[in-house]
Amino acid sequence: MYKINCLNPIAAIGMNIFTDAYEKTENFADAQVAMVRSAAMHDMELPEGLLAVARAGAGVNNIPLDKCAEKGIVVFNTPGANANGVKELVIAGLFMATRNVVAGANWVTENKGDENISKTMEKAKKAFAGTEILGKKIGVIGLGAIGAMVANACDALGMVVTGYDPFLNDAMKAKLSGTVATTDDLNEIYKNSDFITIHVPAMDSTKKMVGKAAFDQMKDGVIVLNYARDVLVDDDAMEDAIKAGKVAKYVTDFPNFKTANMEGVIAMPHLGASTEESEDNCAIMAAKEVRDFIENGNIKNS
Ligand code: MLT
Repeated sequence: MYKINCLNPIAAIGMNIFTDAYEKTENFADAQVAMVRSAAMHDMELPEGLLAVARAGAGVNNIPLDKCAEKGIVVFNTPGANANGVKELVIAGLFMATRNVVAGANWVTENKGDENISKTMEKAKKAFAGTEILGKKIGVIGLGAIGAMVANACDALGMVVTGYDPFLNDAMKAKLSGTVATTDDLNEIYKNSDFITIHVPAMDSTKKMVGKAAFDQMKDGVIVLNYARDVLVDDDAMEDAIKAGKVAKYVTDFPNFKTANMEGVIAMPHLGASTEESEDNCAIMAAKEVRDFIENGNIKNS
């Protein structure tokens, strides 16, 4: 009997994939398998009998990969399983940034008791007037499962899309719509884009990659979207860039950074993959990976 500990709740449809040969335990120290979503595992003592950690998501920055490798623990993730969920929220972010969706809705909440609302509304319509994304240039940094989907969706919305990925290959290119351009020069993305959206994993080499040197090259009034990881953007440099009007809007799926309360920042509590469909897809993929490893010795997405 293999014992599974869920460090975070994992969708039932995935957990149901485990047969009677597996049982759930509340005790991490007993587990042979750990299922995890966002729980930070870096400071946790890893049980002696732990064979596998399955991350129901793409990023593995919450998992101590070196420690796991030393102990021979296999770490799985679920690349692509939540990509559509994230893509849809990125597209929502484009409109939140350009159409004052949040400010407009808040205005109605604050004024809905006002019997003269139809008169004051005219002022609000002016105050919250926006811009359209049709024909605007967007640079997509990172063309993995999520970046590629975002690039194609922006292309379908009539934006002029250029993608950059240092690991771009023919298979990745084949997933892009015909009109999505690519460049091997990241600076081109910084210099030319009206919108920049970041879709790279958090690694030592990508931490604070969007910093002063990047902001210096960007157009004044650029809109930056970050649904990947907070550490990719240098917070101090972002603060300066917002204050200087270099960045008009920063849409981010992370609330825990010091610019979160600044005017021009729209921050969410990491909702990109928080849809029923994405959570189900990740749970199913993670459970299948674990079973294939335990029962057949196969290692996929590790
Ligand atoms: C991911 O890396 O795929 C996301 O962080 C998923 C999540 O929200 O758990």
